[in-house]
Parts: sequence; structure tokens; C-alpha cells
Amino acid sequence: MHTPAYSYYNQLFKNLSLPLAWCDLDLLDKNIADIAQRAAGSGKTIRVASKSVRCTAILHRILDSHPIYQGLMCFSGAEAIWLLSEGFDDLLLGYPIANAEDIRTICKATANGKRIMLMVDSEAHLQRISAIAQEEGVVQPVCIDIDMSTDFPGIHFGVLRSPLTTVAKGKAFIDSFEKYPHVSLSGLMGYEAQIAGLGERNPANGIKNLVIPFLKKKSIPDFTQRRQELVAYIRQKNYPLALVNAGGTGSIESCAKEDWVTEITVGSGFYSPALFDYYSDFHHLPAAGFAVQIVRQPKENYFTCLGGGYIASGSVGIDKQPKPYLPEGVQLTENEGTGEVQTPFSYKGSEPLSIGDSILFRHSKAGELCERFNELHLISNGKITATVPTYRGQGKCFL
Ligand SMILES: Cc1ncc(COP(=O)(O)O)c(C=O)c1O
Repeated sequence: MHTPAYSYYNQLFKNLSLPLAWCDLDLLDKNIADIAQRAAGSGKTIRVASKSVRCTAILHRILDSHPIYQGLMCFSGAEAIWLLSEGFDDLLLGYPIANAEDIRTICKATANGKRIMLMVDSEAHLQRISAIAQEEGVVQPVCIDIDMSTDFPGIHFGVLRSPLTTVAKGKAFIDSFEKYPHVSLSGLMGYEAQIAGLGERNPANGIKNLVIPFLKKKSIPDFTQRRQELVAYIRQKNYPLALVNAGGTGSIESCAKEDWVTEITVGSGFYSPALFDYYSDFHHLPAAGFAVQIVRQPKENYFTCLGGGYIASGSVGIDKQPKPYLPEGVQLTENEGTGEVQTPFSYKGSEPLSIGDSILFRHSKAGELCERFNELHLISNGKITATVPTYRGQGKCFL
């Protein structure tokens, strides 16, 4: 499938107020179908990472598209509670929370028959949840987060999240559940960030790209064995394990090979932001981005737009700034990058540009785009078919 040309979008945006964010539904639907295909035949369902979407209309579209898509992975207690009120169910908190009021509201939702699981990795979490669950008269389902990183000499390959870094630590934690009758061990999650979220061809990583494929290959058997042993241990202890969650957009294929995994989380692949251009094994289409407007021309072959400085989170690097998308031939200046108000760029493309035209960018990350815009203009078949609110447009800002 070809991605549309600059004139397609520029024409559509002519009568709209810029800057704006768009989602091309034709490309999104192709990504949804391709992601389902990547996991097809594995027997696993796909849980949608809401943080990488942040728009309820798009979350519904993905979940309604194909039976492989089941449930959401949420990123905060307040978000999960709000999503319940918006009619979503089958929610897994992807990260531990400590806010007692949110835990209480979630326990109440459990009491009312909602399917919502909290994430834990320490007894401090269990104590907190168990005490509140007891007061609410429920048994709260929880999911254990186990660390999936691999330590090579001098390199910590992965992220710093769960302290459950070994099978022994995982087993000791599983044993501790006996002390907390008001929580039930219902899930196990291991997120192998160093596979799922790390491309092999990101120019910002320079020479490191040469070793990333090697480290990935070495790391996979290390953590898959950890995950397998801990799942076996939980089953042996007869806990009602409802799900074993793994992965992200960048690790669908490796997770699909693990028999003991029941579901794979995917988020970023739907919009396929700029950082997801740098993987060797898959390619999704640029389904979302933003358009800013040319407001002046400082010199020949240079233009300046209003807005654009929507930098992504994470370690600071050039790859966290938005990537010029269309027209071809737009290059950011090193001095200014994408600015708070003004974004200059040099232009060597063939499309004639003038004041008032739009320049299209892709955010470096997926869901963060929606924190900058109240609406997403939905495009299909040459038309703006709807304009839907983002989380921010619904007055929601969770993190
Ligand atoms: C726990 C967890 N699972 C899965 C993902 C994968 O999400 P995505 O497909 O957006 O990369 C993430 C992303 O950070 C995560 O934190």
C-alpha cells in the first residue's frame, strides 16, 4: 500500500486551522490488520497499550476491528478508572500505582464486576492493595511484573523497573502471596523493552546499532527461560493465572514463540511514529502526525512554521524531536530544531511552497502526539471523515 503524497494532505488541511493532528484511517486500518497478522496463528490475543493511542475513538476502532484484540493496558490508576466510565473493560494496569484513592476505586469496580488487574512487584504493593481490598470486601486480582533485562559485562540491556530480576526472587515473591488473602495472583507480565522498544537502525544510536542485534539475540533466551520458569511455578502452586502478558510492537514475533505467553501488548505500531521506522524486521505505515503552517520565509530555500516543538519523553537525543514527513526535502536546522513557537527548515523538494501551506511531521513517539492536540482529524478516502477528541480534548491529562 502506498502512502499518500503531500498534495493529498495539504489539500485537505487547506480549510482547517493549523497546527492540527491527523490520523489517516486507511493507513491505521492497514497497520491494525498487519499487526493482527504478525501474531496470527500464535493463539495469543493482543492487548492494546492505551498510552500509545490516547484517543478513545481510536481505541474503540482497534478493539472492534478483529477478535484478536482483547483488552487494554492502561498507564495510570486515574486513566483506568476513567476508561471504565467510558465503557471499556478488561483493563490491565501496566505499571504499579500507589495512590490509595485510585486503588480503592479500582477495588470497588472489581466488586461491581469489572475486570481490572493491578500491577505489583513487591510486598509493599501487596500490603497496600490487600488492606484496601479487605476494607472493600473484595479479592483484588493483581499481575506480577518480572524484570526481563539482561546484564552483559558492563551493559545493562533493558530497563529499570521491577526488582524481580531472577527466578529465585520471583519465586520468593510468589510465595509471599499466601500472606495476602485479599489479593489474587491472576497475571504475570514481563516487558522485554530492549527488544520491543529498541530499533536496530536508529541513526541517533550510531555505532551501537552494530551490537544491538547481537545483544537482542543473546537476551531473548535469557528472559524467555525466566518467564517460563515463573509461569510454571505459579501454575504448580495452583494460582488462578488468567493471563501471561509479554511484549510490545517490536517483539511480537519473539513473544509469539513462547507457548506459555497468552497475550502480547501492542500500542505504538498503530500510529507507527518516527522511532518505529528503525526496526529491521517489520514496517508499519505512518498513520498519524501533525501539520504546522508556514508563516514566513527568512531567506531563499528556507521557511518558518508556527509551532512544532513537540519533543518526546525519554533520554534526551536528536531522535526525540519530530521528524519531517511531507513534502519530501524538508530538513530541520541544527541550531533551532523544532521550536517552541517557530520552526525553521531548509527545503530542497520539488513541491512549490508558500505562506499558508502545511508541513507534515511525525512525532517521535505514538501517544504523546495526543497530549499536544485536543483533536485528531480522521482522514479516509480523500476526505476528513470525522474530528474526534484526544484524551486531552476530553479534558484528561493523566501523566
Ligand atoms: C509494560 C509495557 N508493555 C508494553 C509496551 C509496549 O508498547 P508499544 O507497543 O507502544 O511499544 C510498553 C511500552 O512502553 C510497556 O511499558
